[in-house]
Amino acid sequence: MIFHDILVVGGGLAGLRAAISAAEKKADVAIVSRLYPVRSHSGQAQGGVNAALANNPQAKDDTPEKHAFDTVKGSDFLADQETSIFMTQEAPEAIFEIEHWGCPFSRTPEGKIAQRPFGGAGYPRTCYGSDKTGHYMLQTLYEQTVRHNVKVYSEWVVIGLAKDVDTCCGVIALDMHSGTLQAMGANAVIFATGGSARIYGNSTNGITSTAFGVAIPYWAGVPLKDMEFIQFHPTSLYPSNILMTEGCRGEGGTLINKDGERFLTKYAPKAMELGPRDIVARGIMTEILEGRGYEDAYVYLDLRHLGKAKIMEKLPGIREITLDFIGLDPIEKPIPIQPGTHYCMGGIDTNVDGESPLKGFYAAGECACVSVHGANRLGGNSLLDTLVFGKRAGAVAAGYTKDKSKQSRTNALERALKREEDNLNQMLKSNGKENPHKINNELRKLMPEKAGIFRNEKQLSEGLTQIKALKERFKKIRPVASGRSFNLDKVWFLEIKGNLDVAEAVVAGALARKESRGSHFRRDFATRDDANFMKHTVATYTPEGPKLSYKDVSITKYQPEERKY
Ligand code: FUM
Repeated sequence: MIFHDILVVGGGLAGLRAAISAAEKKADVAIVSRLYPVRSHSGQAQGGVNAALANNPQAKDDTPEKHAFDTVKGSDFLADQETSIFMTQEAPEAIFEIEHWGCPFSRTPEGKIAQRPFGGAGYPRTCYGSDKTGHYMLQTLYEQTVRHNVKVYSEWVVIGLAKDVDTCCGVIALDMHSGTLQAMGANAVIFATGGSARIYGNSTNGITSTAFGVAIPYWAGVPLKDMEFIQFHPTSLYPSNILMTEGCRGEGGTLINKDGERFLTKYAPKAMELGPRDIVARGIMTEILEGRGYEDAYVYLDLRHLGKAKIMEKLPGIREITLDFIGLDPIEKPIPIQPGTHYCMGGIDTNVDGESPLKGFYAAGECACVSVHGANRLGGNSLLDTLVFGKRAGAVAAGYTKDKSKQSRTNALERALKREEDNLNQMLKSNGKENPHKINNELRKLMPEKAGIFRNEKQLSEGLTQIKALKERFKKIRPVASGRSFNLDKVWFLEIKGNLDVAEAVVAGALARKESRGSHFRRDFATRDDANFMKHTVATYTPEGPKLSYKDVSITKYQPEERKY
């Protein structure tokens, strides 16, 4: 059996940062990742990472406090304020640290880290490396894990948790190379498995951004928080939904409807294209639904007035993508865009230290809900979240595991291994006819229709009924393929089961929240209702469906007010 002090599950930014932090504290830490780490979805992050460095001439007065206020206001006041304040105060150091490790940020003429405007922010505070910021950060952190000799189990897929009564003691992983199941013991497990936005069909996320990472702890009794809050990025390329960074608008790009109108005058008259994502995405969708889009599907993101030199310097990746995918040069033509699911504000219920209610089990990054993003995350705060809370979770877990003996919970690991083996054998013997991919595709079609940018009771109830019907059909699936090496069929089966259960938590939470807040907009309850819904939704797994309860929001400094942009 394999043992480490700490197992980090996920090789993206949050996972790498957690592993570095634990290694710095001399913990024996290993990463288990379904992808080679530098192929993680974090590498697709384009526009940048927020910190109040005050480097931009327009941001001389910026401070972490102002960053905290923007974050809380952007969240529609559902973010826990002390954690938001913590994140924004840690931000400058987090950026300098990764800069000193060699992250090639773009520069101001005097050589400081360059910062661009992003939505919902009072100042230009998004540090960037042209439009490939996530890629640069991922390479930089990976180098540090190599420097610290962190062991990586690459292309190993974690499929279950091992628990000894009330304590997490490791994971069960499928080694994709050999096709064998492995029991991996640890005194602490940190999940950093990324987001679940791929439960929707129209997503900016990579195809591995499924709900499996949050389903595994959910099935093991760890609650999920605020799952109904799904962020639609306003500008994803039509029709593939590849991200067209907010940096396009930060650099001056405009949004235009079929009548040639800069329609955001109606939705965010002051901030215009730099309004927060929930408001801008709803504005775009309204234009499309009311017939002012093109082909009832998209509007234009216009960069032409920025000129060739600026596009080539600041947005070269965007140009590459539009040329490669739709043969369009944004120097000459406007880009067809529509909103696409981009980020899950909800996730595994954790505190500021990354601790979940299950002892020894931590989470950080998009799979976690700390909560700093509340009902709507500001662009540029997600990469920051990975750095700050990845570091924190790694350090706290290292403190927790210090002096704990290894290999003390072998029986619990063996039981978990047997459970997962039995489960996989069951799937091999299944005698049903249902195709799991058909079920998944139906789920991904219904989610935007029933729990999309605009929601109401009827659609959400229909969505819930349909998900329950898909879950019934999933019980009658065809047998899983029996091959050993790189048998992705096994992974997909488990993943799709996770997608169904997590989607159910999203829709159930949305149905129960009879108000509109941030990304959750109910046409039948169109205003925010602080009296009844200033609270976090907590979903606990039962085989019959999620059991919902609620938790207070921490409001310490900023009183909720009407959001105007
Ligand atoms: O638009 C973007 O570049 C995405 C940034 C983010 O989600 O933080």
